[in-house]
Amino acid sequence: MADKITVMYTEEEINKRIAELGAQISKEYTGKEITMVCILKGAATFACELAKRIVLPVEMEYMRCSSYGNETESSGVVKIDLDLDRSIREKNILVVEDIIDTGRTMKYLLDILRGRGPADVKLCSLLDKPDRRVTEVHIDYTGFVIPDKFIVGYGLDYAQRYRNLPYIGVVEPEV
Ligand code: IMP
Ligand code: MG
Repeated sequence: MADKITVMYTEEEINKRIAELGAQISKEYTGKEITMVCILKGAATFACELAKRIVLPVEMEYMRCSSYGNETESSGVVKIDLDLDRSIREKNILVVEDIIDTGRTMKYLLDILRGRGPADVKLCSLLDKPDRRVTEVHIDYTGFVIPDKFIVGYGLDYAQRYRNLPYIGVVEPEV
């Protein structure tokens, strides 16, 4: 069964926005090194492309967490499935996420990372869906602010599918 997917941002639009973010981050971190913490699996595509646009030393680290909940909404009870394998003490951490929805997952993760003694923790998210926020999360760098739609592509999935789409689209499951 095929789901109907409508393009919201083309690959060209995403590339352009990532180049802008990379330039902004490079400028604001001038003279520093960045430790990127990519939140798997959804942020992998974005994190790689963003890292390529940052003209400073960037270490790439990965974390995976799951949030108990149903298919389209997180519960706030977050479990770390794959943790960082190195200390982040005194590092400038840039957390890279695919989307901030209710904010529950990121609130939990940021609290954990801040407790590990980094020099600094900032957040960069490809997408921000502010209409659904239930807990405040400050996003330092945002790709696109989007309405309350279910998004796939560019790393984001619907039941593990569509992560490989080169664009960002809205999925309307076929009934
Ligand atoms: P939050 O805790 O509600 O902010 O959940 C954020 C996580 O839910 C993201 O990292 C995604 O994995 C997932 N998510 C939220 N909205 C979408 C969406 O529109 N498409 C795909 N995944 C989403
Ligand atoms: Mg995610």
